[in-house]
Amino acid sequence: MLDRERIVSQLNSNRFAVMVMEQTDSTNTALREMAQYGATEGVTLIADTQSGGRGRRGRTFASPQGGLYLSTLLRPQGDADPGVITCRAAVAAARAIESLCDLNVEIKWVNDLFVAGRKVAGILAEGVLSPEGTLTAVVLGIGINVAGTLPPELRDIATTLADQGVSLTREDLAAAFLNGLAHTLCADAEEMMEESRRRSLVLGRTVTVVRGNDTFTATARAITDRGHLVVDTAAGEITLTSGEVSLRL
Ligand code: BTN
Repeated sequence: MLDRERIVSQLNSNRFAVMVMEQTDSTNTALREMAQYGATEGVTLIADTQSGGRGRRGRTFASPQGGLYLSTLLRPQGDADPGVITCRAAVAAARAIESLCDLNVEIKWVNDLFVAGRKVAGILAEGVLSPEGTLTAVVLGIGINVAGTLPPELRDIATTLADQGVSLTREDLAAAFLNGLAHTLCADAEEMMEESRRRSLVLGRTVTVVRGNDTFTATARAITDRGHLVVDTAAGEITLTSGEVSLRL
């Protein structure tokens, strides 16, 4: 079971109110409900395992024992773009992992973290809307494959930090991520985008874009300051926003 005290004692601000749970269906789902009942910015749920971990575009996120499954609540003032928040969170997560081991972490636009060519973490930022349709909160969730046994169908495309020879505690990683996130959420936008580009696994590469029922091949050219991906296709240049597409390498 996660040691809450070990996380909280390493936080260098009181921005996050951390709760740990043995199991839940999804920390994002649980926190969305709490947001609807008025939970405040910084409320953070961390679960030992999830029975219904969710990824982008309705996918499941395998959440066996040994991984870090964390969601934190943001109450952005004014306009908030979950795509930009995802970029900032990805930079915080990459830095947190690298601060605790020797690995090199890359970002597969927009929400996946890769190590040695395999997915090690995913991010899911979801807006919470009022009945009138106004954005009232963003639930930012991250799942990091720290250790544990991934399902057989993921073994060729995903990895765990333990499989990469790294031994670290989920508590230390959670604290490093939250401390980093406090910084990247308000860091200079240009600095964040530059780091996203430097860590990008897709820039310059041929990718398969899945948009709605459409699947096509493209070359990833640029990531804009708003976190959109510009690709060259047979029909010319197009700009993709994070919500609408998924990429295959
Ligand atoms: C993806 O790979 O598409 C995103 C995965 C996000 C997984 C995290 S685990 C904590 C939080 N709870 C969820 O159900 N999803 C996110």
